[in-house]
Amino acid sequence: MKYEILEDGTNVLLREPTKEDQKSSLDFFLKLPVEDRRYLRMDVTRPGFVERRLVQSESGEVYRLWAFVGDEIAADGSLEFSADQWGGHLGEIRVIVGREYQRRGFGTLLIQQLFRVAEERKLEKIVMNMLAPQKSMRAVCEKLGFRVDAVLPDYLKDQDGKTQSLVIMTCTLDQWFHEMKDFYQEKNWDG
Ligand SMILES: CC(C)(COP(=O)(O)OP(=O)(O)OC[C@H]1O[C@@H](n2cnc3c(N)ncnc32)[C@H](O)[C@@H]1OP(=O)(O)O)[C@@H](O)C(=O)NCCC(=O)NCCS
Repeated sequence: MKYEILEDGTNVLLREPTKEDQKSSLDFFLKLPVEDRRYLRMDVTRPGFVERRLVQSESGEVYRLWAFVGDEIAADGSLEFSADQWGGHLGEIRVIVGREYQRRGFGTLLIQQLFRVAEERKLEKIVMNMLAPQKSMRAVCEKLGFRVDAVLPDYLKDQDGKTQSLVIMTCTLDQWFHEMKDFYQEKNWDG
């Protein structure tokens, strides 16, 4: 558990979810506008989705970190570990920020914190996958030093069934911590 203050003065609590957070998580997803849900990997409003995610976190397959403002979830971040040996050095970060909290630094904050977790887990490279229309996601990644490794044209389908290209962006932990050294020292984040 960690408290942070964003540049705009917002007090944020960062913590891992518990089973008691089911309702808050569902509220968070139901509040997302359709445009923000359209490009997510799963239909987050489907019955059982939130419960399954929490079980998945407990099993250790995925590390989740949520940002709370008061009692409300403002942003949901995750670091997924590969079950395959050939991807054992990789982690995938995913971030979703509630509409009223976007562009206030929540996405960046979660990604910075999840890189710390990736370091503890001795991962070497972080992958972020997005559909081509997720321009804000791409902008954050570019700002943070990720590069486009591949674009798979017309590869996936969005929640409306429309075919979309997949953009795969990556950043190595070496590069990340080299570039963010001053940031972490200043924050004195111990992970
Ligand atoms: C994409 C998303 C995760 C970004 O998180 P965020 O908290 O809004 O982003 P931040 O405030 O940390 O932005 C950091 C920087 O990224 C860039 N950026 C973020 N959103 C942007 C946008 N819409 N357009 C252009 N640049 C953008 C900017 O450089 C920004 O810095 P600045 O505000 O000082 O200019 C969030 O907006 C979101 O969840 N969007 C909808 C759902 C989605 O597409 N999720 C991705 C699933 S993988």
